[in-house]
Amino acid sequence: MARDHLLSQRPWESPETTSWQRLPMNAVDRRAGALPLDGSWHFQLLPSPNSSSGDWTRLDVPGAWTMQSADDLPQYTNVRMPFGDFPPHSPAANPTGVHERSVDIPAEWAGRRVVLQVGAAESVLLVQVNGRPVGISKDSHLAAEFDLSDVVRPGDPATVRLTVVKWSDASHIEDQDQWWHAGITRSVLLYATDPLHLADVTVRARQDGRLRVDCTVRDAGGPLPEGWYVTAALDGQLLVQDTEFDRLNAEDMRVSDFLGEARLRTTVQDVRPWTAETPHLYGLTVRLHRADGSVADTSHHRVGFRDVEIRGRDLLVNGERVYIRGVNRHDFHPLTGRTVTADDMRADLTVLKRFGFNAVRTSHYPNDPTLYDLADELGLYVVDEADIESHDHAHEIADDPRYLAAFVDRVSRMVLRDKNHPSIIVWSLGNESDYGANHDAAAGWVRRHDPTRPIQYEGAAKTGWADRSVASDIACPMYAPIEDCVAHARSGKQTKPLIQCEYSHAMGNSNGTLADTWAAIESTPGLQGGFIWEFWDHGILQRVNDGRPAGRGGAGLYDNGVTAPGHRWAYGGDFGETIHDGAFIADGVVFPDRTPKPVMYEHREIAGPVRLTYDEGVLRVHNRQHFRGLEWLAAEWRLVRADGTSQSLPAELPAVQPGESAAVPLPFPLPEPAAGEAWLTLRVTTADDEAWAPLGTEVCVPQVRLSAAVTDAPPEPADGPAVTLDEDALLVHPLLTSAPVLSLWRAPTDNDELGGMAARWHDWGLDALVREVVDVRDEGSRVVVLSEYATGAGPVRHEQVFTPVTGGIRVEESAELPAGLDDVARVGTVFETVPGLDVLDWYGQGPWESYPDRSAGAPVGHHSLPVDELFTPYLRPQESGGRHGVRRFTLSAPDATGLAVELGAPGQVSVNRYRAEDLAAAAHHDELVPRPGCVVHLDAAHRGLGTASCGPDTSAGYLVAAGPHRWEWTLRVL
Ligand code: GAL
Ligand code: MG
Repeated sequence: MARDHLLSQRPWESPETTSWQRLPMNAVDRRAGALPLDGSWHFQLLPSPNSSSGDWTRLDVPGAWTMQSADDLPQYTNVRMPFGDFPPHSPAANPTGVHERSVDIPAEWAGRRVVLQVGAAESVLLVQVNGRPVGISKDSHLAAEFDLSDVVRPGDPATVRLTVVKWSDASHIEDQDQWWHAGITRSVLLYATDPLHLADVTVRARQDGRLRVDCTVRDAGGPLPEGWYVTAALDGQLLVQDTEFDRLNAEDMRVSDFLGEARLRTTVQDVRPWTAETPHLYGLTVRLHRADGSVADTSHHRVGFRDVEIRGRDLLVNGERVYIRGVNRHDFHPLTGRTVTADDMRADLTVLKRFGFNAVRTSHYPNDPTLYDLADELGLYVVDEADIESHDHAHEIADDPRYLAAFVDRVSRMVLRDKNHPSIIVWSLGNESDYGANHDAAAGWVRRHDPTRPIQYEGAAKTGWADRSVASDIACPMYAPIEDCVAHARSGKQTKPLIQCEYSHAMGNSNGTLADTWAAIESTPGLQGGFIWEFWDHGILQRVNDGRPAGRGGAGLYDNGVTAPGHRWAYGGDFGETIHDGAFIADGVVFPDRTPKPVMYEHREIAGPVRLTYDEGVLRVHNRQHFRGLEWLAAEWRLVRADGTSQSLPAELPAVQPGESAAVPLPFPLPEPAAGEAWLTLRVTTADDEAWAPLGTEVCVPQVRLSAAVTDAPPEPADGPAVTLDEDALLVHPLLTSAPVLSLWRAPTDNDELGGMAARWHDWGLDALVREVVDVRDEGSRVVVLSEYATGAGPVRHEQVFTPVTGGIRVEESAELPAGLDDVARVGTVFETVPGLDVLDWYGQGPWESYPDRSAGAPVGHHSLPVDELFTPYLRPQESGGRHGVRRFTLSAPDATGLAVELGAPGQVSVNRYRAEDLAAAAHHDELVPRPGCVVHLDAAHRGLGTASCGPDTSAGYLVAAGPHRWEWTLRVL
């Protein structure tokens, strides 16, 4: 039987078999005019490729079956393979999906060449049409095309059967850190061409306006007919035939009867070059003509004129050393797993543009083809990465000749598909696959085929970043400490641009020290940026009752990062997998529903097109872009004063060239120093509609301090409410349900957990401090309470001094941390309020969440938010919702009653519905039970967030030191 014929080869355990009868990859876009085969298909899931047929059900195509069937669910592993078989073997239990449907082949396709395109199938695709074997393909993230001309009859129905085997030799080189799925994940379509057709089109468009278009032509019927020719027009302007090319071809006797080649060229006068800031595109139409002039085939392209080169240790786009403000992006969707629509991708890239990103690394495989169209259109630089990651067996595979063909196949097919996109500035050979001869073979192919772009591969730096290797023109480490990068750049030994392929791991509440990292990059020649890991939290929307993916039916069951009741964002282990890597899959700068996490505002400010400085009385506006002026922006000045007032004025942005700055007059008279601190903010928005943002979208809010705070005298003791303590010497207060006590612990962030801090805090007992009252003294105008907390590193002494002041109570606190407690989460006070105080108004940094090492994007101002909106619902509950640099706040009820707190010095404050221990005890957000009142933390010191879940911890300056800490605050009733 036909299927047996394909199966008998056991292609899933044959790495040398990368395909059988698959058509060569090319850059001719056949999506327009094609016959889509997407929709509901007949489906059966077999336990292994050789199992006999079962019962048919139905399945949506495209759509991984792991997202649609209860019998084979998603599984998450990072490095380790989910099965023990050594490459190239796969397990005997090997789910195999048989997809079948009938399609009416249009009668008007008679005499034409009919091609089936399967957008993506993982991991092995076996194709049969009308019962006849048609082909085999691997390479899960690129399309496979098969010529059906001999097996279908126009006017008749045809049965298309796509058998997909889940595990194979290819799984060992698709061991990326993401969910394992299986099935057909991109669209399936049929198209027809004339037998005489464009086999490929290669476009080279230079910044100076030179355009060259190379076409290859074939005839499915056999030798090429006499007299064919190709024409091309760029926005109506006809290209000319490169007769020199034709002459040389003829002279070399290179002209073949079977493969036609044509070269056309032109030079566009006054071309508008393409950059990520100015993504100008021109429309190119290529036509293949028969001898009589009639058109046999047409291909449309969008062309961007730009140059990429490496000069010395700089990567240049159109001659400019551009900062790479990148992110790693997977094709991900919480309802489909991997299948994404054009709208989804547009939304992804729009978010990136709005938050200052200018680059995407397609970690770790070629993305859906539409992604690159959108990157061309919206303006993003792309590092296009081949689908090769052999993480678990990296060393064995990199030099294994059985995998040689697969490496070259995957890299070359990516380049052949994507070479015409101006957005792609670098090819990447893959990820985490050690370094071997197979990489050099693939690199060699690229260098010959596309000499216009650099290549990168992180693994190629076997012995150092300065290594000269054929596999990487860029030193692209991952998670390298910024000090090491700076040292390398200053060592005199740097040979290549240093652009980290991954940095600043965004797992949970993370991305500490991003601003410091960028300050180092911008002040160190040779450092050019990097790609944050990563865009998505890959939480799959899951029904809690039956543990199944919600699937497409789950649309709308989430909002603002939070799932509807009865649902949760699943991470590793939630589908009953025993081998998994937990929440490590939730490490993106956006939630699974694309809601930006607070780090996005930090990034937006760091990457903002406009920066302000105020030095020695001179206010300057800086244009931080590489290619654009400031004309596309509008702005407004705002003066923020400590007394709670602010003033706004429309701002006139000066004409400033990219990379330059201009002094501007102060928009407001300089406030009197005695009036306390004053801040000047420039709210910058889009002046017109941009492709990625409507007019009025905020793009950054740079801020400078105009005058410093004056130290207010502490409030004098006065006839305030008497200080009442209970029998445990705890403050009794009508608005507090739990009295202020010392807190040294936070619900561990993912960084705290994986970096080992959480374990240390637990060993020290900081998560369950027991308070011993040592002394209580009523000193008339004040009451002093001295307590002690035993910890694994010695006792912590804590003193609270309560003094009645006008309208309230002043609390002066001090804590002495023994030398051994040299790295705690926080030193501060925690209390709980009565219910009903649901709005926080504060003067400090905001409005979004900020922490000591992630606060550059949160301007000082007078902010206000409902308490329930302060909390950030990181997938695995953890410390969240903090606000940095808070000077004072009120917590109030709708009738304006409530409490007011004034801090002696700006501190880290958090107000939410959970105690640290509530958060630490929950594995998912839906398990949290909000407390009726507010849990308030006032911290004199709070540890930075760092990125220790994968990469450097926060830097020393953001650690909480041992020794004495003092803080004070005043509590008043509104
Ligand atoms: C890198 C890897 C990524 C991801 C990340 C951690 O080592 O390339 O795929 O695993 O670490 O989240
Ligand atoms: Mg990996």
